[in-house]
Amino acid sequence: MNKPIPVIAIDGPSASGKGTVAQRVATHLGFHYLDSGALYRIVALASQQAGIAWSDAEAVAMCAKQLSLRFENEQVWLNDQDVSEAIRSEAMGKGASQVAVHQALRQVLSSVQHDFRQVPGLVADGRDMGTVIFPDAVLKIFLTASTEVRAQRRYQQLLAKQQAADYQAILQDLLERDARDKNRASAPLLMAKDGILLETDHLSIVEAVERVLENYQRFIQFSA
Ligand code: DC
Repeated sequence: MNKPIPVIAIDGPSASGKGTVAQRVATHLGFHYLDSGALYRIVALASQQAGIAWSDAEAVAMCAKQLSLRFENEQVWLNDQDVSEAIRSEAMGKGASQVAVHQALRQVLSSVQHDFRQVPGLVADGRDMGTVIFPDAVLKIFLTASTEVRAQRRYQQLLAKQQAADYQAILQDLLERDARDKNRASAPLLMAKDGILLETDHLSIVEAVERVLENYQRFIQFSA
């Protein structure tokens, strides 16, 4: 029997560094990469452009169904508009967290995410990769860090990009997003029962990537 295409799921809260870790693991293994948060950010942006309130579950899901999306290397195109930068704003992060509470939208995006599962394998990052979208992932990492460390990292990132940054506002925003992502009824942020906790307060990105790769090597050895 053919083995299913392997998926490594990396879930965790905002600003935990999971995107960077997931991308590097994918590059190292030559796997595809899915940034599922980008999909929710795109829907937030497209809804805003269409004048749809983020709280309107039905209209947001309908808007998502009609999207014309293209992913090219690091770039994301929405209806022939390069939105790679626009979806990275703090406002779209907030919007993404708000549209993400709608089950109807999560349903629409489910098949879009499954389409990323292609040979030789996929590294997928988000909130529900290991719990809902790819429950048969061969490795489920829950990557996290304390709220203060995550706020500090985001603060430094903004300063490095020479953007205005207010540590207290960032901390407050992260607390709000964490609460919304953890407490929603549909696919809340939580560690899979068979997940591995990777706490990164005292780990560099390079060390976190190594830990994920070590765990994947262990899986390969056991499944050989
Ligand atoms: O990973 P991110 O910060 O780009 O995600 C933005 C928001 O999208 C996040 O606050 C919650 C939502 N999201 C989700 O509900 N499920 C996912 N798999 C990924 C993101």
